[in-house]
This record gives sequence, C-alpha cells and structure tokens, in this order.
Amino acid sequence: MIIAVDGPTASGKGTIARALADHFGLPVLDTGMLYRAVGYQTQLNHGDPDDSADALAACDFPDGLLHDPALRYESTGSLASRVSIHPAVRKALFQRQVDFANQPGGAVLDGRDIGTVIAPHADAKLFVTASPEERARRRHAEMLGRGVDVTYDAVLADIHARDARDTGRADAPLLRATDALLLDNTTLDRDAAVAAAIAFVVGRVGKPG
Ligand code: DC
Repeated sequence: MIIAVDGPTASGKGTIARALADHFGLPVLDTGMLYRAVGYQTQLNHGDPDDSADALAACDFPDGLLHDPALRYESTGSLASRVSIHPAVRKALFQRQVDFANQPGGAVLDGRDIGTVIAPHADAKLFVTASPEERARRRHAEMLGRGVDVTYDAVLADIHARDARDTGRADAPLLRATDALLLDNTTLDRDAAVAAAIAFVVGRVGKPG
C-alpha cells in the first residue's frame, strides 16, 4: 500500500505521515529532507541556490547529511524551497523517491508532489493543510519553544513566501491531486487530524485499523 501525503509548509503533514506509517506498519520518507539536504549542501559548496547548475551539483550530497540537525532550520527550509524550483534538481531526486514508494510492502511519503508526480498510482492520497495564520501560530510557538528568537509576523511572512514559491513554480508545483482527501486541520488538534487520516485510508483500501 502506498500512501501519499502532500501539503504546504507547517501544515502538519509530516506528523500525519509518521502517524499513518506507525499505524499501518509502513516505512516513511519525508521527501522535504532531500530538498533540504540539496539546499544545505549548496550553501556548504558556497553555491547559489537560485542557480540551477550549483543546485544540481549539490544533489550529490553524502547520505549522512540527512541526519544533520541543521536540515531542520527555517533557513534551510528556505534554501530547500529555492533549489526545488529547478527541474534538474527535481529530476535528480525523482528516482530515489519513486524507488522508495514502490518498495515491496508499500510506503508512506510526504512532500509537495507525491500524489501528483512521484506516486500518482498511490492507494490513498491526502492533502493536508491549515490556514497560513494557524500554521504560522503553530510554527512560531514551536520555534519559541526551541529558544529561537523570532516574531509571529516574520514567521507568517516566511510561510507566505514559501507557499508562493511552492505553488507558483512551473515544475511539479504544490497541488492537490483530484483524488486526494482535503484534510484542513485549522480547527483540529493532532489526534483528531490523525484519526481522520486513518479513517480515510481505511475507507480507501479496506484495510482494518
Ligand atoms: O516539507 P519541507 O518544509 O521540509 O520542504 C522544504 C522545501 O522542499 C519546500 O518548501 C519545497 C521543497 N519540496 C518539494 O519541492 N517537493 C517535495 N516533495 C518536498 C519538498
């Protein structure tokens, strides 16, 4: 069984993907980490994330980089969003994601283009979202909790910028697949959103929880 979970930044899609993977006993791939690794490696190379050749060169990042805590930084998320615009980068990361999706037994993948490009044949697709203000509120609280000194307005501005870049790019933009469940969790807590996601997948594939 393949489950595709897409959605904008800070929507909670990663939490839902991990919960689905736990529930159904499937491996999970956070595909944003691949783009984050490319963005961070571009910076380590002193390259320009807006330059396609520099970003492509960074696709050779060592696998160990995927465990670097720096990949979680907001600044790395912005770099990832910038390198992810380049078709050459998307092409370089394509097969790795397709292979993960198609492994025997199935998988859960979360990202921006899983249900549309990487696994259009997925058994269940979810598009997880929440209002920009709610996503900013949650991200801001989480950052303050980590001791990061940042204002709500700065977080909201970053979310708007990331949304515009992720949905506006020509190649594999963030888009809800027509057959994806729209899971808007603006007013749902984590447990309610996870329960809705599990119920949807069970309904789609007929597998008991
Ligand atoms: O999910 P995330 O915030 O870790 O993703 C970081 C950036 O990577 C995101 O702004 C756009 C890009 N990305 C993408 O283009 N396609 C994916 N499947 C996953 C992430």
